[in-house]
Amino acid sequence: MIQHKLTIMRQKETGSKDFRELLNEIALLMGYEVTRDIPLEDVEIETPLCKMTAKKVSGLKLAIVPILRAGLGMVDGLRTLVPVAKVGHIGLYRNEQTHEPVVYYCKLPFDIEKRFIIITDPMLATGGSACDAIQMLKERGCTNIRLMCLVGAPEGVAKVQETHPDVDIYLAALDDHLNSDAYIVPGLGDAGDRIFGTK
Ligand code: PRP
Ligand code: URA
Repeated sequence: MIQHKLTIMRQKETGSKDFRELLNEIALLMGYEVTRDIPLEDVEIETPLCKMTAKKVSGLKLAIVPILRAGLGMVDGLRTLVPVAKVGHIGLYRNEQTHEPVVYYCKLPFDIEKRFIIITDPMLATGGSACDAIQMLKERGCTNIRLMCLVGAPEGVAKVQETHPDVDIYLAALDDHLNSDAYIVPGLGDAGDRIFGTK
């Protein structure tokens, strides 16, 4: 289902409303993988029939940290899965000439260093934005970080793996290469513009 939804998103005629809805649906589905090994504990409960020992998430607190703007497009889907997660925001944009990320905003939950963090960003291109966001979180003491993207380029995956080998990367698709403008090919174009209808 993730691949089917992603195919619709990639098509250039898909409009902003469908693009946004599909992105959130995929985020929810990927959230299953990203959270599949979070620790559980036994709790004693009573069903209408009898007592039983059941599983519950063991006190682990989650934070979703979208990289603005496009990462916002995955937050609602993930929050459907984990309604109690707090949300922090890291604002980065790519300089169009150098393709280097520029920081313009950072607001995180006060106890971010204690949380299991899922960074969201649909596009992992050169990997510069993801690496900077991870670095900003590590500088604030965070140690438990996962990166959830929709489409990645081999160049971006390699950069994150080299710079932050402790951070697991989750992708719906690994694409072919970057073009001379550092766009992912075949990709889906500019994710932020497609989510927010700015082009
Ligand atoms: C896009 C995308 C990533 C970044 C990926 O954001 O959402 O954050 O580019 O590129 P990189 O891996 O080469 O750093 P963009 O800078 O276009 O900003 P936007 O989300 O505000 O549109
Ligand atoms: N950012 C995007 O939105 N798309 C790309 O292909 C690369 C960076």
